[in-house]
Amino acid sequence: MTYGTQPTVSIDGFEIPQLGFGTWQLKGDDARRMVGSALSQGYRHIDTAFIYENEAEVGQGIKDAGIARGDFFLTTKIWVTNLTRDALLKQAEESAERLGSTPDLLLLHWPKPEPELMETITALNEAKALGLTRAIGLSNYPSDLWQAAQTMSEAKLVTNQVEYHPFLTINALKAKAQELGSSLTAWSPLARGKVLDEPTIVEIANKYGKTTGQVTLRWITQQGLIAIPKTASEARAAENLAIFDFELTDEEIARIAALATGFRVGDHLDPAFQWDEA
Ligand SMILES: NC(=O)c1ccc[n+]([C@@H]2O[C@H](COP(=O)([O-])OP(=O)(O)OC[C@H]3O[C@@H](n4cnc5c(N)ncnc54)[C@H](OP(=O)(O)O)[C@@H]3O)[C@@H](O)[C@H]2O)c1
Repeated sequence: MTYGTQPTVSIDGFEIPQLGFGTWQLKGDDARRMVGSALSQGYRHIDTAFIYENEAEVGQGIKDAGIARGDFFLTTKIWVTNLTRDALLKQAEESAERLGSTPDLLLLHWPKPEPELMETITALNEAKALGLTRAIGLSNYPSDLWQAAQTMSEAKLVTNQVEYHPFLTINALKAKAQELGSSLTAWSPLARGKVLDEPTIVEIANKYGKTTGQVTLRWITQQGLIAIPKTASEARAAENLAIFDFELTDEEIARIAALATGFRVGDHLDPAFQWDEA
């Protein structure tokens, strides 16, 4: 497993590159082109999901790039309609087939009250035992549900992928990640572009000769989290990758954290559950 110069987080024997390439809303040829380009540019972590309807094109982009399978990290997710044992295993098998190889990480995309969490977590472990993924994890699980899922899970849930950017505070999730020896992956790390004109971030970006997007991604990864920005542009993909040659001060990290207002760009949490307060 070689991820070049990309920093990684180590969880339970798995190395997860801290910068991933997000593919939501990339469809067809765009998904294929951008995944191929991202890997060729040096990204070593690709994030997709059943519901993005691009697993086959992501797989083609991977093939185009010609990077050895062990040299990049691939994540996909089980959609909420596939949380019973049989549906989960069927999707896991079909996702791997569409991607052209076994994913490194299979996540439950969003929590649902039905079926029982125990059935889904047991099935996720079964998918791992059957070789349909190397590791398992969660997405959009509030911290109490994350704890419950880990208690039920034989294997470590190696990440919880949640919305995180300078406008949100996720202290309870950070504490839970630490307590469980797991990690957090930040989705919508650029708040879908809403961070780009933020005056505090503009000021810090000017100091380093970097863009506001680069400062934001650096802010997330310097906290030890994984970030998975999406772009449909090769140039912006290169920009988002060039974040490991400068370092924010503790004061700058705190100034950006102070921008949090609780603003969410997207939220499909089932009303049966509640986000942590902060
Ligand atoms: N687990 C979940 O429930 C969940 C939910 C949402 C997202 N995700 C994952 O997280 C990934 C990222 O989230 P996201 O796509 O919602 O939001 P994002 O990465 O925060 O923002 C993407 C937006 O920012 C623009 N952008 C990207 N880089 C830029 C740059 N350097 N300068 C200016 N604009 C830039 C993109 O436009 P262009 O494309 O035009 O560059 C796009 O409009 C998704 O692709 C997906 O893989 C997961």
